Amino acid sequence: MKNVLVINGPNLNMLGKRPKEHYGTKTLDEINELIKKEAEGFFNVDFYQSNYEGDIVTKIQEALFKYDAIVINPGAYTHTSVAIHDALEMFAGPKIEVHLSKVDEREGFRRINYIRDVCSATFAGRLELSYIDAINYLKNTK
Ligand code: DQA
Repeated sequence: MKNVLVINGPNLNMLGKRPKEHYGTKTLDEINELIKKEAEGFFNVDFYQSNYEGDIVTKIQEALFKYDAIVINPGAYTHTSVAIHDALEMFAGPKIEVHLSKVDEREGFRRINYIRDVCSATFAGRLELSYIDAINYLKNTK
């Protein structure tokens, strides 16, 4: 069975307390449970969350040797991080960018995206279902 790593960046550990109009009402633990259910029988899924850019970079480096695919919501680092871009660039398998909110239709600074060009696909704007879309995309990917 393929191994998938789901990475969440800064402030995503606070889901449930963040603005509901953008992020919905589910906690990260609840979302991770939904992901696990959707992946059942297809993937082993591990979850990682960090508020620290360097820790996310290190986790992606470790993933090079351990995982077949990465699903990543880099949170605010989407809009700032050349380091996460460069780490993802090295990962040969599918890399799926996820956002709960309609990130491309919000403030101008959120339209700056350092991650997208190294990702295989993007799912955004469907709250927790964006993650489910990513898992289903992977089911259809070799
Ligand atoms: C986010 C969008 C980012 O702009 C924001 O900084 C986040 C969450 C999303 O999931 O919609 O923290 O990545």
